[in-house]
Amino acid sequence: MTTPVLGLRPVAGGVSEFWQQRADVVVIGTGVAGLVAALAAHRRGKRVGQRVIVLSKPSDREGATATYYAQGGIAVVLPDSDDSVDAHVADTVAAGGGLCDPDAVRSIVAAGHSAVADLVADGARFDEAAPARWALTREGGHTRRRIIHAGGDATGAEVQRALDVATAALDIRRNHTALRILHDDTAVTGVLVRNEDGLGILHAPSVILATGGLGQLYSATTNPAGSTGDGIALALWAGMAVRDIEFIQFHPTMLYDPNARGRRPLITEALRGEGAVLVDSQGSSVTDGVHPMGDLAPRDVVAAAIHARLAATGDDCVFLDARRIAEFGRRFPTVAAACAAAGVDPTRQPIPVVPGAHYSCGGVTTDAYGRTDLPGLFAAGEVARTGLHGANRLASNSLLEGLVVGRRAGAAAADHATQVGSV
Ligand code: FAD
Ligand code: SIN
Repeated sequence: MTTPVLGLRPVAGGVSEFWQQRADVVVIGTGVAGLVAALAAHRRGKRVGQRVIVLSKPSDREGATATYYAQGGIAVVLPDSDDSVDAHVADTVAAGGGLCDPDAVRSIVAAGHSAVADLVADGARFDEAAPARWALTREGGHTRRRIIHAGGDATGAEVQRALDVATAALDIRRNHTALRILHDDTAVTGVLVRNEDGLGILHAPSVILATGGLGQLYSATTNPAGSTGDGIALALWAGMAVRDIEFIQFHPTMLYDPNARGRRPLITEALRGEGAVLVDSQGSSVTDGVHPMGDLAPRDVVAAAIHARLAATGDDCVFLDARRIAEFGRRFPTVAAACAAAGVDPTRQPIPVVPGAHYSCGGVTTDAYGRTDLPGLFAAGEVARTGLHGANRLASNSLLEGLVVGRRAGAAAADHATQVGSV
């Protein structure tokens, strides 16, 4: 090829010659949103022979997504329960500080149970309180116990495992970094990619951004190394709008370790749902009088209360006292392992915690189906701003959004490719 792409002019026959391939749908990301989208696109488009290619930045699979690290669970309204879509919508909007899009909230929350049912059909297994009855926990901002979980506090590992297995036959390319979304004046035409062979172009009429969050822009984060906000940059370079990106959620309880660097362990909010309490170095409650929901107030309220207490006391951290939780190691094996690695025994001593950068509430502007303003460009998962989260995401609504909007975006991307044909 001789055409310059973004000012990069390949040398014919030289090392900088672009490799080129064609697809109908390119999905960028292999977390919950990307793999659910890829499955939906594949299932929708296979009868017309569509080709779906999925990209992932790192070469290894283990721990390469934020999805893998999710702990607390998935917020979902179960039929035949005392819960309701109205209640989940109200909790989401209250946590979002009045900045959610109520229509998007209702649309996504109402589709939660069917999206989880699809995930179960694809092989995911959740913890049960009794045979055929899922165990439910509670987290900050929720007025009901409505959070399903797996492996105690290893929900993300189970979601990732199930989706990795379900997508095993798909064309998944690791060590493929998306550098630019390519488009003409009217629509998407492909993706510029770097892999071990150098720069290449995947020509495609539909591209789904599912690149996750940006916690690694901060020095203290729960996010894995790849969470560097690539999708926001890709969308901005393509001239797309982003919204609400000033709303970075700080999770109240990241394990405090003065010597730790890079991704730091999360101490799940579900511990507070099961009775753990937040105290300062004098044993006084951190949230008394701050909010009627106390330690289970929405996340931004609790993180701000901790910040204020640390500023007032000059301490380096506060403490989560989880000593009253029975069978700690069985219910919270991920947290138990992280504490053990840091020399903390949560059955005998309070866990030192501080707030840490956790989640990007805003992102690429989309509707509740993952559609952006550029025909052929879709976004789903943490990279997208659907209007579900407003200024502060309700706990365990992210995996929910990835499942619901990922599924919709995948189907819409396949339909778009069918309408447009190859580029
Ligand atoms: P990710 O799972 O982060 O996947 C992003 C993908 O994009 C990766 O495959 C990455 O390689 C790829 N990628 C990125 N940039 C590029 C590029 N330039 N080129 C190619 N590929 C690229 N949410 C809940 O709902 N419940 C929870 O219990 C929960 N617990 C959490 C615990 C932790 C410790 C963390 C960090 C988050 C938690 N969250 C939870 C939030 C939730 O896990 C994430 O928001 C969600 O998993 C994001 O999914 P995603 O598919 O959007 O992105
Ligand atoms: C947690 O388990 O505390 C994290 C849940 C979330 O980010 O929604």
